[in-house]
Amino acid sequence: MSGTATKRSQKIILVGPPGAGKGTVAKSLVDRYGLCHLSTGDMLRAAAAAGTEVGLLAKSFMDKGALVPDSVMVSLIEERVQQPDCRTADGSPAFMLDGFPRTLPQADALQARGLAPDLVVFIDVPGDAIVRRLSGRRTCPACGNVHHVEFAPPKADGICDRCGGALVHRSDDHEATIRKRLDAFELQTSPLVQRYGAMIERVDGTQRPDEVMRAVVAVMQRHGYAG
Ligand code: AP5
Ligand code: MG
Repeated sequence: MSGTATKRSQKIILVGPPGAGKGTVAKSLVDRYGLCHLSTGDMLRAAAAAGTEVGLLAKSFMDKGALVPDSVMVSLIEERVQQPDCRTADGSPAFMLDGFPRTLPQADALQARGLAPDLVVFIDVPGDAIVRRLSGRRTCPACGNVHHVEFAPPKADGICDRCGGALVHRSDDHEATIRKRLDAFELQTSPLVQRYGAMIERVDGTQRPDEVMRAVVAVMQRHGYAG
């Protein structure tokens, strides 16, 4: 891991439909730039696994492919971005959000707290490619790494390449739920494209994972990240 660069005061948002590759790109960016990566999906799944009140409430929405209420999500992120790992040495915010904001009210909440993004990366993948990607995904609950039975298979069946943990098939990665998540994206999240307008850097997410990463690194370099 090369995440030794001095943390920059930059607020980055990764947007894209379910299965676009946000988590895959985020893991590589963390390795390369040492960013504070906050995946709201991962945070909610960890809370659900721990059996907290918020986690169990969230799970009831996630398993249906629906979004968790804005009030829950805003509190979760508001609290988390205060932590020192999401701040520079002088206390300025420095983070990469993956899966937040997902609605206009969530974007408003960031804005109202002085946390509006400096850079929005939109990973674009059409809906028909998504079902194949998500039904073959296997994730590692221990370290958050993402594999795919066809596109990014682990070296040993069912075992995470990164940490050796047991891979799981996410409970919302089944076709009927995937289609509901796509609908939620179209209805509730895609209006963010208009909201963020010219700030959006669009990347073709249908390329191979290394090509997607190369395109995202080119964007990062244009925004002042060396390496
Ligand atoms: P979340 O966990 O954020 O799910 P999502 O947005 O649906 O996105 P995914 O994590 O499914 O996909 P990804 O884009 O990260 O793709 P990945 O890299 O894994 O949220 C889950 C739920 O939590 C939501 O449905 C909602 O209920 C709730 N929630 C979360 N945030 C919320 C919020 N802000 N407000 C309200 N509710 C919220 O890649 C997918 C697969 O494809 C992998 O197997 C990977 O190996 C493979 N792959 C990746 N890139 C490529 C490539 N270039 N080519 C081929 N295969 C690839
Ligand atoms: Mg993800």
